[in-house]
Amino acid sequence: MAKMWAGVTSGVTDSIADDFNSSIRFDCKMYKQDIAGSMAHAAMLGAKGIITDTEAETLIDGLSGILDDLESGKLNFDMTCEDIHMFIEQVLTERIGDVGKKLHTARSRNDQVALDLRMYLRDETGSIISLVRELMIAVTDKAEENKDAILPGYTHLQRAQPITFGHHLMAYAMMFLRDIDRLRDAVRRMNVSPIGSCALAGTTYDTDRHFEAERLSFDSICLNSIDGVSDRDFCVELASAMSILMMHLSRFSEEVILWSSWEFKYITLSDSYTTGSSIMPQKKNPDMAELVRGKTGRVYGDLMGLLTAFKGLPLAYNKDMQEDKEAIFDAFETVEMCLKVFAPMIATMTVHRDNMKRAAQTGFINATDLADYLVRRGLPFRSAYKISGQIVAECMKKDLVLETLPLEDYKKYSELFEEDLYADIDLLACVEKRISEGGTSVKSVEAQIEYVREALRA
Ligand code: ARG
Repeated sequence: MAKMWAGVTSGVTDSIADDFNSSIRFDCKMYKQDIAGSMAHAAMLGAKGIITDTEAETLIDGLSGILDDLESGKLNFDMTCEDIHMFIEQVLTERIGDVGKKLHTARSRNDQVALDLRMYLRDETGSIISLVRELMIAVTDKAEENKDAILPGYTHLQRAQPITFGHHLMAYAMMFLRDIDRLRDAVRRMNVSPIGSCALAGTTYDTDRHFEAERLSFDSICLNSIDGVSDRDFCVELASAMSILMMHLSRFSEEVILWSSWEFKYITLSDSYTTGSSIMPQKKNPDMAELVRGKTGRVYGDLMGLLTAFKGLPLAYNKDMQEDKEAIFDAFETVEMCLKVFAPMIATMTVHRDNMKRAAQTGFINATDLADYLVRRGLPFRSAYKISGQIVAECMKKDLVLETLPLEDYKKYSELFEEDLYADIDLLACVEKRISEGGTSVKSVEAQIEYVREALRA
């Protein structure tokens, strides 16, 4: 059969070429947006007298019938159609006759697809943001339960200073808060209507682009028609925001994997979010966290694919641009799945405070506090640092920890040491003394939790 665009060409193409060219198997996702966009377009054409009011009504009724039938399953996508835009227009014309052919007045698939994609991604970003919020609730609740659970904080994956598990978790909550902000920001720039740009140059008809933009809840319209149909920077921005979100999820996953190993045993994941081994009966594997870590590479790939596909395209539309959809849809689907499994995985994990505490008791993570003790008694920090280092070395030799080294031994290094040093290097005291804003003290963690909860309420 000849294509709807048969004109100077016969419209008859090779079937393999047809398959290659076709995008309906993935752009059918945008059917709702395509129909909403067409309804607004028909209404505008009617309002401006470009078609009659009756014609506009017939088009809108026809489109609404197609929407109902697609939703109820009465109508199925025809995978032999070139894309979703052609499919809907074809069904419309079959159903309402020649009036259907008027829908595409003062419009092109180039502004149509740009419109559909912006609307589709706007909705999808809303779902991703809700899922990030759910994850943040799970993280914040866990942080609250564990605001006084002491464990070693690490640098270079070496035990560094005592922190609370609540403090550690809230670091991720802060990252996710910025992720939401980045997604919202991308939507703000994307929520500009391209419809009315037509093929690239605008149109000779007396259209009203603001009418359509308002109906479709856009904040404004693209002010250059070539830009309106050419750029997909919004896809790149969203893929980039999602890549950053995945980077955060991946680091979190890595820690979940480490913490649930026998070497750490800080947490146990719920059976619902782990798997067994087909050969080793004792195994409980953190597959979900590993997959999230792995899928991060996939989302980065989507971002690189988009950037690369667009880097050499002359303005305005080129068919290469059809490649935007699979990449950005894949990124959205992947991030959505990851978030859906991550939030309940965190909410249901068991925290082993005793194991955390035990780990905190070795590794001399209160050595900084020992140095601070001397500083408070007048010694310059560098000298105090050196003395504390020597004391740690002595403890190691004697297989003792700072808490068990006798006062006489301390006195060998400095007369400033008194009995009260032991209270100062007590782990809980070390944590509680870190009162600087954003620090690890329970009070500070409570303030962070309150800040994030307030932001989630807003
Ligand atoms: N399926 C196409 C895409 O996704 C729609 C736009 C087609 N425009 C054109 N001039 N061939 O980009």
